[in-house]
This record gives sequence, structure tokens and C-alpha cells, in this order.
Amino acid sequence: LQTEVSLAKAFQDDFLIGAAVNKRTIVSQSDLLKEHYNSLTAENEMKFESLHPEEHRYTFEEADRIAGFARENGMKLRGHTLVWHNQTPDWVFDDGNGGKAGRDLLLDRMKSHIETVVSRYKDTIYCWDVVNEAVTDEGAEWMRPTKWLHGIGEDYIEQAFRFAHEADPQALLFYNDYNECNPGKREKIYFMVKSLLEKGVPVHGIGLQAHWNLYDPSLGQIREAIERYASLGVKLQMTEMDVSMFAFDDRRTDLTEPTSEMMRLQEVRYKQFFELFREYKEVLTSVTFWGAADDYTWLDHFPVRGRKNWPLLFDTDQRPKDAVKTIIGQ
Ligand code: XIL
Repeated sequence: LQTEVSLAKAFQDDFLIGAAVNKRTIVSQSDLLKEHYNSLTAENEMKFESLHPEEHRYTFEEADRIAGFARENGMKLRGHTLVWHNQTPDWVFDDGNGGKAGRDLLLDRMKSHIETVVSRYKDTIYCWDVVNEAVTDEGAEWMRPTKWLHGIGEDYIEQAFRFAHEADPQALLFYNDYNECNPGKREKIYFMVKSLLEKGVPVHGIGLQAHWNLYDPSLGQIREAIERYASLGVKLQMTEMDVSMFAFDDRRTDLTEPTSEMMRLQEVRYKQFFELFREYKEVLTSVTFWGAADDYTWLDHFPVRGRKNWPLLFDTDQRPKDAVKTIIGQ
């Protein structure tokens, strides 16, 4: 099952090596996780809809189980995520009388959700993705039009960070987003975080989701993004890394295993990424994959339903790909 060297141990002087897990994979990938990873993120179990399906009802069971697994195995745990436009239940934005919740009600709800969740996991979660994906991909506008924005106004982001900081002053608070190396979006993220910092908002880091593929983004774009974000004086983490075998718009669904060319290109990409990451180990404190092995990846369903993908460092039998030895050996 294993290589002689653990991934997490190989990088222990550089950064944490994390994996997203869920209620099934903490069982099915338990040995692999314990061997090669020293940080975890709950894939869905700590999102708003999972924890807080109704206003006066919280459901902590699955999240608690993941927190317990991290604690028992001496692993770090990232919290994901407090304020997002997806996987947030409708009740949050409704006033209960068929209308929309107004600013004050929405702020109250945001505050009590953040207080309850952040204080519950205070002893285990060392950092939180406080706000996820608030920046738009397209156009000149920078804020994604979400129910949070429309209900509260532009300051919803800073409010979320202030509530999280009150609930756990020790926690490292991250802004997390994707397409983070795309130059246009990178600048929007950069200026947003810059203005938060100038206002004294407690933001400690930027999460680069790192949902990449064999072709995009280029190494140069990744380096530029790291440099740009790091110039703000915050910590950086790769929070949801995967390297899809397909270009984003590739709709082909017939492959049942990766081609040798795909495997080769992926190994080269991973080698380049980890060389680059090591250069920035002073500012890059964690590299988390969005899964642990190719037997389970969200990319089997996204963005093309039923297109098997092989984006991670361990294969569908949870065996290390050649890329593991390559990045460890360099
Ligand atoms: C994804 C999960 O992996 C899926 O299981 C779920 O159906 C949708 O969300 N950006 C994020 C993550 O911040 O929370 C998303 O996770 C992937 C994209």
C-alpha cells in the first residue's frame, strides 16, 4: 500500500500536507490518511447546510466525527467554511413570513452561526475559511452577486471575519477562492484582501483552492499569484488542490483509466508545483488536496457528470503514483 516515505514526513520542515475527507473516506481511506497526511478538511460536513439545517437546530454528529478522527491521530484540522453562497439553506435568507430577511436579521444569523460553530471546534480547528468565493470570475464587478451581499451589503465579508475573530481570537482566518491564479481574478482578490487589511479586519491568510489541471494555470501564473498575495503580508495555503486530467471544457466521458501520457504530464506538473511550493515555504504553510486518492474525488461529478478523473497523488487502489516518489525525491 505505501511507499517507504510518508508524504507528510517528507515535507514536515516545509508545510502541512492535507486532504479533504468526508464521513465515508475517514473509514475507507483511514490507513492512507494516517500514513501520508497531517492535516484534514471536512469536504462538506462543516458547511452551513450540514451543520445548521434549521434556525434552531444544529447537526454536529458528522463534523464531530471528523474532528475526533483528526484529534485521535494528531492531525491538524482546517475549518471549511462559514460564509459561502453555496450549500447554505434557504431559511437563512427568508424572514419567515414569505419575505426576505433584512440586514439586521441576516447579520444576527450570521453572527450566531459563526459563534456557535467556531467556539465548538476551538480546541481542534486551527484555521477557518471564513468567507469562500466572494469574488466574481467575469467582468469589471468584483463582488459575486449572492444572497449575503444583497441581504447585508458589501460589509458582509468584514463582518464575518470580525465575528469569527471574536469567537476564537487564536484561530487563523482565511479568505478562500478558486481561479486564484487567473490574473484578472487574482487582482480582484488582492485588492479585496488589501482593503480589508487596511480597515483592520482580522484576515490572516489567503486560501488558494488550486483546482488545477494538466494545462492550466501556467507555472508562471502560479508564481505571480503567490508573490502578489504574499506581498500583503498574509500567510498562504493551498486549500483544495487537485490536478484534473482534463481541460475544463473537455466533455469526453469514455475513458475508464488515465492514458500513460496523462500520467506522465501529471507527474511533471506535480513535480513543478512542489518545487515551486518549497521555494515559498516561509509563506506557504499548508498544501491540502481535495481528496486523498483517486478512488474518491468530487471531479468524477464536476464539471461533467460521470466523467471519471484521476487528479490526486494516490491511485484508485490508494497506491502512490510515480509522482509521489518524484516530489519526495527532489
Ligand atoms: C465540493 C464538494 O467536494 C462536493 O462534494 C459538493 O457536492 C460541492 O462542494 N470549492 C469549495 C468546496 O470551496 O467546498 C467544493 O467542495 C469544491 C469547490
